[in-house]
Amino acid sequence: MSGSFAVTENAPAKINLALHVTGQKADGYHLLDMLVTFAGHGDRLGFEASPSDQFTISGRFGAALDIDSRGNLVLKARDMLRQAAVAQGHHAPPVHIHLEKNLPIASGIGGGSADAAAALRGLIRLWSLRLPGGRLSTIALRLGADVPMCLANRPLIARGIGEQIEPVALPSFAIVLANPLKAVSTPEIFRLLTAKNNPPLALRGSDWLAAIRANRNDLEPPARRLVPEIEDVSAALKNAGASLVRMSGSGATCFGIFDSIETARAAAAKLHSDRPDWYFQATETLCGGR
Ligand code: C5P
Repeated sequence: MSGSFAVTENAPAKINLALHVTGQKADGYHLLDMLVTFAGHGDRLGFEASPSDQFTISGRFGAALDIDSRGNLVLKARDMLRQAAVAQGHHAPPVHIHLEKNLPIASGIGGGSADAAAALRGLIRLWSLRLPGGRLSTIALRLGADVPMCLANRPLIARGIGEQIEPVALPSFAIVLANPLKAVSTPEIFRLLTAKNNPPLALRGSDWLAAIRANRNDLEPPARRLVPEIEDVSAALKNAGASLVRMSGSGATCFGIFDSIETARAAAAKLHSDRPDWYFQATETLCGGR
C-alpha cells in the first residue's frame, strides 16, 4: 500500500476449514458450525484524518468494488461506528480510508467481512474510541454474519449464524488458495442448499489434519452445482500435491493444505503458469492458542 497512513490494518482472508449447516432459523438465516482460521494474506486498509470523508481503492481486485455506502461494507462500518461513537459523546471526524483489495470479490474467504472488521479496528484506533462492551459486537453482526469472526481474527469455532465464537488452539497450515474467478452469491448458495439439518462439527484427537478431514463443507455440493469450475480448481490443487482440498465458505475459493510453505509456494507457481486466468496464493494460516 503506497502512501503513509496514521493507522494501517490487515484484513486477512478467512478460511472455513470446515462448515456444517445444522439448521435454519425462522428469519431464514442458517445455523452453522464452523472451524475457521485466517491466512497470512489479505486486503490492507489505511486510515488518516482528512478534511472530508474520502475512500480510495487500489489492488488487483479493486476495480470490481462498489464504492457507495450502500454497497461497500467498509463505508457501512465507518458510518455505523461513527453513529455509535457520536451517541457516546465521542468525536468521529472525517477520515480518508484506503483499501488495497488483494482478495477476489465474492469468493468465500470473507474479503468484504474482513475489510469491515479491519475498518472497525482501524477507526477505533484512529478515533481513540472506547465503546461499551457488546456495542462493537452488535455493530459487527449487523454488518454481516461473518464480521464478528473477522473481528476476532484468530483460529476459532463459530456457531449460531456465526456470532457465537470460541477460540481454538490450531497449528499453522501451509495452504494454497485457488479461485477460478467466478463470483459466487452467498444467498444463492444457501437457496440451492437442500440438506439443512446436518450433524455438528466432530473434532476429536490431536491430529488436526485428520480432524479437518473428518468434517466437511456443506455448502460445497450446491456451490459445485452452480460453478462447475470448482471441480477443476479442486482437481488442480490435488494434482499439485495438496494433502487435503476443500472449498471455503460459499465458494468458489478452494484451499489445499501442503507440507510446508516452500511446497505450497512451488505448487502455486506451477498452478499459476498452467492457469494464469485463475487466482492462486500460497500462504500460511495463523496459529492460535486457546
Ligand atoms: O450476513 P451476511 O449479509 O453476510 O449474509 C449474506 C447472506 O447469506 C444472507 O442474506 C443469507 O441469505 C445467507 N446466510 C445464511 N445464514 C448464515 C449466514 C448467511 O443464510 N448464517
